[in-house]
Amino acid sequence: MCGIIGITSNKLVSSPIINSLKKLEYRGYDSAGIATIDSGYIKEVKCEGRVESLEEAVSKSKLTGNVGIGHVRWATHGIPNTINAHPHSSENVSVVHNGIIENSTLLKKFLINKGHKFKSQTDTEVIVHLITEYLKKDNLKDAIIKVLKKLHGSFALGIIFKDNPNLIVGARRGSPLAVGYGPGENYLGSDSYALKSMTNKISYLNDGEFCIIKKDNVEFFNKGGKKINKKILHLSSDEQNYEKGDYKHFMAKEIDEQPNTIKNCVNEYIDKINKDINIFNFPFKEKEIKSITLIGCGTAYHSCLIAKYWFEQLTSFDVSIDIASEFRYRKNKFKKDCLYVFVSQSGETADTYAALDLCNKNKMKTCSVVNVIESSIARDSKFVLPIHCGPEIGVASTKAFLGQMLVLYILCLKLAQKRKDISKKDYLKKIKNLLNLAELVKHSLATENKIQSICSSFIDAKGSMFLGRGYSFPVALEGALKLKELAYVHAEGYPAGEMKHGPLALIEDGMPVVVIAPRDQHYKKTISNMQEVIARGAKVLLITNKSKDEIYSENIWETIEVENTEDDLFPFLVTIPLQKLAYYSALKKGYDIDKPRNLAKSVTVE
Ligand code: M6R
Repeated sequence: MCGIIGITSNKLVSSPIINSLKKLEYRGYDSAGIATIDSGYIKEVKCEGRVESLEEAVSKSKLTGNVGIGHVRWATHGIPNTINAHPHSSENVSVVHNGIIENSTLLKKFLINKGHKFKSQTDTEVIVHLITEYLKKDNLKDAIIKVLKKLHGSFALGIIFKDNPNLIVGARRGSPLAVGYGPGENYLGSDSYALKSMTNKISYLNDGEFCIIKKDNVEFFNKGGKKINKKILHLSSDEQNYEKGDYKHFMAKEIDEQPNTIKNCVNEYIDKINKDINIFNFPFKEKEIKSITLIGCGTAYHSCLIAKYWFEQLTSFDVSIDIASEFRYRKNKFKKDCLYVFVSQSGETADTYAALDLCNKNKMKTCSVVNVIESSIARDSKFVLPIHCGPEIGVASTKAFLGQMLVLYILCLKLAQKRKDISKKDYLKKIKNLLNLAELVKHSLATENKIQSICSSFIDAKGSMFLGRGYSFPVALEGALKLKELAYVHAEGYPAGEMKHGPLALIEDGMPVVVIAPRDQHYKKTISNMQEVIARGAKVLLITNKSKDEIYSENIWETIEVENTEDDLFPFLVTIPLQKLAYYSALKKGYDIDKPRNLAKSVTVE
């Protein structure tokens, strides 16, 4: 969360900083700010709300300067207002920060005793005063080394100095940070996306490192202050994927892109001629893997949950799944014969990264399923399986969910084949089905009209439930998460068979309930559970697949039918109407769909 940008140039920097902040807004959007070295002084402009408001304030302020930093905030310490907005500055130092300083209260006491005065409620302000304090005695580099040692917690920092007006210091522990190289100027940014419109030449800071960026050179240091060399990566240019085109929202575009998500991913992993799955350079001996642990957060966790069903169905592995924020603090029994799979769209989620780091430190076999291949999780896992979705900008994860499921399914099939858990005939049949999946997904997109006509019932209700069994249970969780996240209405995802153990008490007259029941092995049981909620007054939206067979239930409020496929692949088809339900419910309420309240796309704090 929070986005950082820094530019040192021979040109004015406020306008390119604002442009980059617009790109970084998906990381946080409750307040924004900029500071430059303007006529020899640190000058800040900050405001509550969006970058649009900051842009207006900056143009009124006539801010100049060739060195500057900017920030978009997702509040952790202190309410979102102008005072708490970053940058935070003393007379000589200005700081932007992404992360949390866990010992800020202690440091603040120490600094107040030394006579420092605090303006904001943030943890970040201690960094400003600490640097100011150390600069009284130390040179810039030594002061930075000492300050970084004092800070507990996670951070990515951008710092400018009145007395060193030609440079920016960047520092990283936990939260991601990139450096970009341009003609006559260099940059600091939370990610390559923020820098892409200015350069495709990027280096990444690793944990504990810091850098000094001048307009014509960049120096990198380890935490002890020893100079280190960095690789410069050349990124591909895919700017057009960052535009909304004719769509009103990124989310709508990203939902519609899903047939292509499937097609691209299938093309990357499936050898159509030899009817085989290509996973090259897998660094582990399949025979040495006896179990799989899948780890993620939010939607990525839901894809792990679905994959558990696939792995159990198609392989003989022992399979566990975990929510990263729980895994990282449990007393885990690390197993040498386990493959730990980390799933993340952004590849920067703090909890997922920490869980990966823990496994790496314990010398485990780690693999990641990510969208952003330059991300920290991708870089630090031993093997990477990209989902090839292209940028996902809307805060709600849609196409990345389908991409994650697909790659996990493909990995599952490949391991099943390698271990001879699956017959050749079944393996080939499943590959054939995958080749047809994009077409089937396309049909699921055509549920628009019906969804639009029913979403009022969801937004007007006190709450709603999403029910499913088997593969459809994690889909139900995902459907409920989407509705909560975008339309701000209470929604619960539940295994249909669990309703009678408590949640059935919530059902009352007119309550909307989504039942996800494709005609798989669980169909009849789920339909019975559906009848139980209908009998108690629920308005049921049934999501099933097309069939000649009649549905044996009366009083279903609405039905949506997706195409037919084999049981394994239904999650891909039944998810899409749920994404649309959340989208149109939020649209009807007039909410900010791509930037729902209180959230951010990349969750880089705990
Ligand atoms: O980038 P990641 O996939 O690691 O993000 C994990 C979750 O924060 C994310 O899926 C979140 O739940 C989505 N906003 C849900 O739509």
